[in-house]
Amino acid sequence: MDKIIVQGDRARLTGTVEIEGAKNAALPLLAATILPSEGVTTLRNVPVLSDIEMMIGLVKNLDISLDGSRELKQVVVHHGETIKSKAPYEFVTKMRASIVVMGPILARNHRALIAMPGGCAIGSRPIDLHLRGLAQMGVTITQKNGYIDAMASELKGADIYLDFPSVGATQNLMMAATLAKGRTTIGNAAKEPEIVDLANLLNKMGAKVRGAGTDTITIVGVEKMHGTEHSVVQDRIEAGTFIVAAAITQGDVLIEDAISEHNRPLIAKLTEMGVSFREEENGLRVIGPKTLKPANVTTLPHPGFPTDMQAQMTIAQSLADGESSMTETVFENRFQHLVEMQRMGLDVTFQGNHATINGGHPLEGAEVKGTDLRSTAALVLAGLVAEGKTTVTGLQYLDRGYFQFHQKLQKLGADVTRVTHLHD
Ligand code: EPU
Repeated sequence: MDKIIVQGDRARLTGTVEIEGAKNAALPLLAATILPSEGVTTLRNVPVLSDIEMMIGLVKNLDISLDGSRELKQVVVHHGETIKSKAPYEFVTKMRASIVVMGPILARNHRALIAMPGGCAIGSRPIDLHLRGLAQMGVTITQKNGYIDAMASELKGADIYLDFPSVGATQNLMMAATLAKGRTTIGNAAKEPEIVDLANLLNKMGAKVRGAGTDTITIVGVEKMHGTEHSVVQDRIEAGTFIVAAAITQGDVLIEDAISEHNRPLIAKLTEMGVSFREEENGLRVIGPKTLKPANVTTLPHPGFPTDMQAQMTIAQSLADGESSMTETVFENRFQHLVEMQRMGLDVTFQGNHATINGGHPLEGAEVKGTDLRSTAALVLAGLVAEGKTTVTGLQYLDRGYFQFHQKLQKLGADVTRVTHLHD
C-alpha cells in the first residue's frame, strides 16, 4: 500500500505550479472519439492518470485504433466505419465515468451494451437522467445479467428537460444527439467548463451543438462526423487544489496559465476568507494570509461552488478562526475526510449534509485514509498544516485525478514524500 508522508507545521508554499489538462474534460472527450467514422483525431494536453488509461482501454476495446503517448500527453485516434457496441464490466466497474460511452456508441450503432455501474464512495450515483433522456430519443432500455441493453431503430431528436443539471447525463445526451435525426434540446443542462470543452470538440468534428455553457443546449443531428485536433481545457479542480494549498500555508504561489473564470466561486470565497489574488501575465498569484476568516459554503452545480473542491475547502475552514459551515448538496456521502480529520483533532459536527467546523484549533498529525480522490488530496493538504507527521493512504484514488501531486507540492517547498510498498 503506497503512503504519502507529510511533515506539517505549515511549511510556506512558494513558487510556480503547472496544471494539467482536466480529467473530467478528457474523459468525455475520449468518449467523443467514438463518434467520427472517418479521419484522425488528435487530442493534446491529455492528463496522465489512471482514469484516462481506463477510458483509453475502453475505447480501444470497441475496435477503435488509438495510439496514446504519455510523454507527449497526446492521444491519436484513427476513425473507421465500424465499432463494437459493448462496454464490458471490467472497465465500467473500475470507473463510473465509463457510462458516457453509452451516448456515442448508441449514436454510431443504434445499440449499446453497457455494464451497470456499481456503487460509489460518494453516494449512490444513479443514471436515471441519462436513461430517461435516451428513452425520449426513441431508445428502448432493458437490463439483463448486469448489463444495460439500449437499442433504437433510429435515434430521434427530442425536447429533454433534466430534473437536475447532471454533468454526465448532459454529456451522454449531447453525444447521442449529434448523429440523431432532427433537433434535440437539453433544458436545465449542466454548464460546467467541461461541457463547453466537449461541445467545442464535437463542433470541430462536424456536429452542430449550440448553447453549451448555458441552461439550454441545442443539437441538430448530422449524417456523419470526422476527425479533428483539440487541446483539453485546463483542470480547474487541480488548479483549485493548489490555490487552497497556497491559501492555507501563508503561501505565495503562481498558478501557471490559470483560467480564473473557471474558479470564480472558489476565488470569491477565499477572498472573503482573507486570501489575496493577483492576475499576472503568466497566471494567477495566490497569497495566503496569516489568519483565515471563517466562511459558510454550499456546493452547487456550476457556476456554484464545486463539490469537487468541497473537501479541500474544509481544510481552509478548519484553520479559520471561528465557526464555518459546509453544506454539500450535490453528493450525499462526501464528508468522509472530515470524519478522518476528527482523528487529527478537528472539531466538527454533522447534521445530514451540513457540517459545522469550529476552526482555529491546531490539527495534529495522524494516520488517515482517503476514500475518493478529492478527499485524499484534502487529507494531504490537512497534513501540510497539522503539527508533526501525517500519513495518508488511499492513494489509488489520488492517482485517478492528480498527476505527480506530491512532486508538485515538493517543488513548492512542502516536506512530502511518497513511499511505495510492493509487498502488501
Ligand atoms: N444524478 C442522478 N441521476 C442521474 C445522474 C446524476 O440522480 O442520472 C445525481 C448524482 O447521483 C449526483 C448528482 O446528480 O448526486 C450529480 O451528478 P452528475 O451527473 O452531475 O455528476 P457525474 O457526471 O457523475 C461529474 C464529475 C464528478 C463531479 C460531478 C459534479 C466526471 C467524470 N465526474 O460526475 O467528478 O463531482 O460531475 O460536478 O466528470 C471528481 O472528479 O472527483 C468527481 C467525482
